[in-house]
Amino acid sequence: MKRSHPHLVKQSNPKAGYLSHKSEIKAAIQRVLESGWYILGHEVDAFEKAFAAYVGVKHAIGVANGTDALELALRACGVGPGDLVFTVSHTAVATIAAIELAGATPVFIDIDPATYTMDPDSLARALARPLKGRPKAVIPVHLYGQPADMPAILKVARRYGLKVVEDCAQAHGARLQGRMAGTWGDMAAFSFYPTKNLGALGDGGMVVTNNAALAEKVRLLQQYGWRQRYISAVPGCNSRLDEIQAAVLRVKLQSLDKENTKRGKLAGLYASRIAGHSLTLPAIMPGAEHVFHQFVVRTSRRDDLRAYLEQLGIKTLIHYPVPVHLQPAYKGRVKLVTPLINTEKAARQILSLPIYPELSEKDVRLVAKMIIKWEGGL
Ligand SMILES: Cc1ncc(COP(=O)(O)O)c(C=O)c1O
Repeated sequence: MKRSHPHLVKQSNPKAGYLSHKSEIKAAIQRVLESGWYILGHEVDAFEKAFAAYVGVKHAIGVANGTDALELALRACGVGPGDLVFTVSHTAVATIAAIELAGATPVFIDIDPATYTMDPDSLARALARPLKGRPKAVIPVHLYGQPADMPAILKVARRYGLKVVEDCAQAHGARLQGRMAGTWGDMAAFSFYPTKNLGALGDGGMVVTNNAALAEKVRLLQQYGWRQRYISAVPGCNSRLDEIQAAVLRVKLQSLDKENTKRGKLAGLYASRIAGHSLTLPAIMPGAEHVFHQFVVRTSRRDDLRAYLEQLGIKTLIHYPVPVHLQPAYKGRVKLVTPLINTEKAARQILSLPIYPELSEKDVRLVAKMIIKWEGGL
């Protein structure tokens, strides 16, 4: 018989997110089952309105997942074959997959080594070089729950006439200078993958924008290009948020702020306990409200620390172990226009510690204590 570890600390815990809203979620699902309407109905409509109000945008369109949200946002912005889309290599591969699904070519930009988000100077340097293809859009990724440096990125993007699509998959509720992630660019894409700060019990995604024409294009593309049922005005696809997930997300949206506050509290506890030792802690940009989708520390002995915590039953992850440009699907095929020194170095040193709203402070203190013990033994 397999024996479970005496005290396991999970890295994320979507089941705990379900259990903390169990009766409301069950009631919401039951309501949909009884309604007899399972695709594009009242729940999706109500969730789109609630999410648009939460983010502070005019339009929100529910789609099947975050990757589709990025792809459809790009396509609505007119991105297609021959176009260049600038983004980071230090991201979920989904960001790059979406660019290629839209028919465009990704151009990789280095990150700021402290915040792990797009370095606006690296973006400016890339755009100043002779490029094969038309520079068309930029996707800043608000990685780990912290907004990228949007004022600086927008300045460069506007200079070159680029559309800006924010990747908010890890940043529901994050702000910069008081302004919500998802309201800075032309459009933004969210994921509701179960482990996200706002997670469904399956796949889901959302495109948001203040531009009615762009919103209308996403609505067309997401359902076969239909303006009128069964008549395709443009070639489209099928990417719909379903009624059950929308009903679940309506429940969970109500506690998103409270849960983000809890993540912040746990992050503060980690930081206060680990500070003063050799690990590099997450850096928060001045004016940023980080929502700690991940709590990422950094050390040159990352693999050793990870193995040490693993044998204690403390689960960690690496977001992400191999930058996208070095992964087999992309290496050699996607050309680099600037070196990605900070990206490659970060991938060797980062470690995502356990964090989720239901994680106990006791467990955070335990993880911090074990890290300090590991450091003492070096
Ligand atoms: C930064 C980033 N972008 C895009 C995505 C894609 O979202 P999804 O998994 O819902 O397609 C994810 C999540 O996996 C992500 O973390």
